[in-house]
Amino acid sequence: MAHVVPVYAAPMADQTNHYHTGLAGRTALVTGGGSGIGAAIAATLTTAGATVRTCDVDTATGADYACDVSNETAVDAMFATIDNELGRLDIVVNNVGVAGPTGGVEDMNADEFDRCVQINIGGTFRVTQQAVQRMRRQGRGSIVNISSTAGHVPYPLRSPYSASKWAIEGLTRSWAMELGRFDIRVNGVAPGTIAGSRMRGVIEREAAAMQTTTDAVKAAYEDQVSMRTFVDASDIAATVTFLCSDAARFINGEIISVDGHCETLRTEFPDDVRVSGVTF
Ligand SMILES: NC(=O)c1ccc[n+]([C@@H]2O[C@H](COP(=O)([O-])OP(=O)(O)OC[C@H]3O[C@@H](n4cnc5c(N)ncnc54)[C@H](O)[C@@H]3O)[C@@H](O)[C@H]2O)c1
Repeated sequence: MAHVVPVYAAPMADQTNHYHTGLAGRTALVTGGGSGIGAAIAATLTTAGATVRTCDVDTATGADYACDVSNETAVDAMFATIDNELGRLDIVVNNVGVAGPTGGVEDMNADEFDRCVQINIGGTFRVTQQAVQRMRRQGRGSIVNISSTAGHVPYPLRSPYSASKWAIEGLTRSWAMELGRFDIRVNGVAPGTIAGSRMRGVIEREAAAMQTTTDAVKAAYEDQVSMRTFVDASDIAATVTFLCSDAARFINGEIISVDGHCETLRTEFPDDVRVSGVTF
């Protein structure tokens, strides 16, 4: 059988060269990298050899840049600083994603709905726009958008969050088509339920609203997953790092779920929770 050389493949001097996960010499920005999953991603990219910068709206987190990604002026200023400090940007991880309000559509606060969409979709757009302008000049880049199981599975009572994450998956695949020809890859990682403080808070608030125990709520979440487990932030970080590496050089427009295979986000809830307006 004839050996087939992919059209866009660069000549390979060393047959093993393209298939390692090291990121030495690459620069990266992780949004919302001051805590949680973003901090884990930043740490793992650094371990892989990248020079990493984080931004966060919460200055107490100690992130490198104070920036609300939904604020265009703040994003522009951050990228001017990146130009001065790093000179180039190879990797962007759009990790910011706020939970948004919880409740039924008939009871939802419109401002809270708008804010969720503005941060999760608008922030990803603004950061990506600035990053792609630089990656086009460089002739290469990798963008990873953090979605969620709720980005492809309906999530009752969390519709703005779910809508924003379905949008993230649409943006990912659309931008992959726009930018693939320029060797700029755009992929997504969809975390399942992460063990940690954010989820502990969600479970406690759900248990209180539904007048049940935290153990019962946690068990209900685990029951949604084929592997009956939550996942760790480090699992998300490992997949993001792989996607940014040359080992993934022809992976583009993909959303990789790291969730133990979440089958559904359906939970049983009493009717009064539907109109409680409680924010999880
Ligand atoms: N935690 C989970 O169980 C889970 C599950 C699925 C998907 N995700 C997604 O993973 C990503 C990270 O989740 P997390 O739980 O680590 O988040 P988080 O709520 O802990 O927030 C991470 C960081 O983002 C910062 N941030 C919030 N709004 C910002 C803004 N406008 N600009 C800049 N920084 C901002 C926060 O200050 C925080 O330090 C999100 O996109 C989230 O939707 C999380």
